[in-house]
Amino acid sequence: MLKKEVVYFKEIDSTNDYLKAFSGKLNHGTIISSKKQTKGRGRSDHSWMSEEGNLYFSYLLNNDITYDSLFQEIINISVTLVEVLKSLQINALIKYPNDILVNGKKISGILIESKKTDSLHKLIVGVGLNINQTDFKELSNKATSMTLENEINYKVENILNMIINNYNLGSKSFEDYLKLSIIVGRKIRYNNKFLVVKGITKDGRLVLEDDDLIYVSLNEITLEEIYE
Ligand code: BTN
Repeated sequence: MLKKEVVYFKEIDSTNDYLKAFSGKLNHGTIISSKKQTKGRGRSDHSWMSEEGNLYFSYLLNNDITYDSLFQEIINISVTLVEVLKSLQINALIKYPNDILVNGKKISGILIESKKTDSLHKLIVGVGLNINQTDFKELSNKATSMTLENEINYKVENILNMIINNYNLGSKSFEDYLKLSIIVGRKIRYNNKFLVVKGITKDGRLVLEDDDLIYVSLNEITLEEIYE
């Protein structure tokens, strides 16, 4: 369960970094959000454009996380985001493992990091959701926002509340994650070969077809780069 009382900042370096720094003192389910970030981070050391008008938040999970529960968390937050967007008539899908796309353009990204303290593995889940941004500059053919999709100006806090309420309904299912994912049947580049994705295993590995089936585990960071 995520806490309903969100700690809001006007400006912060990165909501993920804040939770990392204070994870020892904060409770399970704590949510930090900021109107903008000065050092927003994405996966693979990319920066995350964080101007005002979009949603930037992170939450802390204090229960001991294992590899299996990591994929379950990816399922929980990805399916939550897609369900909330769909409820607002935005037809979003998941690009494995955890990007959210609308019409092939990225609307949301998730950065999951772990921290080991006192023998507990804590998880920090950061979400950036493009809400009211209309100009993505050089990324305009790769990124979109809720406003660009349906010409409505949203109140960012309301969207976060919808996300929290949906997430707190309970764990999402692997079957729903699979149904909402676009990867199966597509070709991806892996070790310099183009291979068809046959499926996703219940523990989050990609199944690729070569001479034999190849199982690619989630923690192979190259995954982000392997899409065509
Ligand atoms: C990605 O590369 O797709 C992940 C982007 C994650 C961005 C969010 S915004 C809130 C949180 N704080 C950060 O510095 N990053 C995440």
